[in-house]
Amino acid sequence: MQYRELGNSNLKVSAIALGAWAIGGGPWWGEVDDNESIRAIQASIDAGVTLIDTAAVYGFGRSEEVVGRAIRGRRDQVVLATKCGLWWGDESGPVHFVQDGKTVRRCLEPRTLRLELESSLRRLNVETIDLYQTHAQASEPLKTPIAETMACLMSMRDEGKIREIGVSNCTPEQMDEYLAAGVIVSNQPRYSMLDRKIEKELLPYCRKHNLAVLAYSPLEQGLLTGKIGMETSVDPESFRNKLSWFAPEKRRLVIKLLSAWEPLTQQYNCTLAQLVIAWTIAQPGVTVALCGARKYENAIENAGAGALKIVPDDLARMRREVEAIAPLE
Ligand SMILES: NC(=O)c1ccc[n+]([C@@H]2O[C@H](COP(=O)([O-])OP(=O)(O)OC[C@H]3O[C@@H](n4cnc5c(N)ncnc54)[C@H](OP(=O)(O)O)[C@@H]3O)[C@@H](O)[C@H]2O)c1
Repeated sequence: MQYRELGNSNLKVSAIALGAWAIGGGPWWGEVDDNESIRAIQASIDAGVTLIDTAAVYGFGRSEEVVGRAIRGRRDQVVLATKCGLWWGDESGPVHFVQDGKTVRRCLEPRTLRLELESSLRRLNVETIDLYQTHAQASEPLKTPIAETMACLMSMRDEGKIREIGVSNCTPEQMDEYLAAGVIVSNQPRYSMLDRKIEKELLPYCRKHNLAVLAYSPLEQGLLTGKIGMETSVDPESFRNKLSWFAPEKRRLVIKLLSAWEPLTQQYNCTLAQLVIAWTIAQPGVTVALCGARKYENAIENAGAGALKIVPDDLARMRREVEAIAPLE
C-alpha cells in the first residue's frame, strides 16, 4: 500500500480509501447486509487501508453506525473521515433531494453543524473525527457565509472534536473563501478516468495550495471494473441509472476500452479494477482514490491496487485511449 500526506496536515493516509456510501443502503443502493459491510471494512483495514470515508446522510446515519461497529477496538488504525451539511432535521437550507420520505437540504449553519457533529460522534462511537468535511456547498438565497461555517468548524477543531477540516464538491472560488477564514486540508471532488473535468482548474489549485484531493467515484460505480457487461441490468431506482456512462451506447465504448487493456492486466498481474485505480492515484494532484465497497471481495481487490505502480508509458497510453472516448470538454 502507498501512504501519502493528507495535504498540509500531520495525517498520513493510504492512497486507496474505503468509501462507505453504499454501506448506507437505501433506494439508490438497494439491500445491504451490515455484517458483510463490516467484513469489507475490516478486510480493507487488514489490507492496509487506513482512510475510511462516510457521511451523516449515507443511509441517514446507517453508514456511520456500521463503520463505528466495524472499527471498534481498531480506532487507532483508522483515519476517520465523515461529512456534514446535508441536513434533514428541519427546514433550514435549500432542498437538495428527497429520499425515503425525508427532505435533505444543503445547510452549513453553525447551529445545525453542532447538532450534526454530536450525532456523527455518537453513531461512529468515537471522541474525535479525524477529517470533518462539508459535503455539499450552500447556494443563494439561503447561503450561510463560508466565514461563519468555518468559524464554527475551527472552534470544533480547537475543542478537539475534529482534527482536520476538509471540503467536498467545492470550487476554487469557494476554497479561497474557506482558506481566508481558517485551515482546510482537503477537497473531495468527483474524478474518474472518464470524468476528468477537475484536471482543468481544481487539481492545479489544490496542488498550488498543498490540499489533498480525495477522488470520489473513481470506478464510475463499478463500470470501470470490467465486471459490468452490456447485459447487466441497472435498477431504474439506483444512482447508476443517473450516470450517462451506463447508457448502452456509451457503456459499449467503455467495455471495448477495458477489453483492450486485458494484456496490461496480464503484464501487471492485476485485475482491470486495480489497473484503473492505480492509474487514478498516479495522476498528479490526486492524493487518494475513494473506492466504494460493501462486499469483502471488492474491498480486498480495490485495496490491492495500492501496491501497483504502472510505468509512465503505460499511464500515457491509457490516457490517450481514454481521451479518445471521453475527451476533456
Ligand atoms: N462527496 C460526495 O459528494 C461523494 C459522492 C459520491 C461518492 N462519494 C464517496 O466516494 C466513495 C466512492 O464513490 P462511489 O461509491 O460513488 O463509486 P465507486 O467507488 O466508483 O463505485 C463503488 C461501487 O462499485 C462497485 N465496485 C467497487 N469495487 C468493485 C470491484 N472491485 N469489483 C466490482 N464492483 C466493484 C460496488 O458496487 P456494488 O456494491 O453494487 O457491488 C461499489 O459499491 C463513496 O462511497 C463515498 O465515500 C462522495
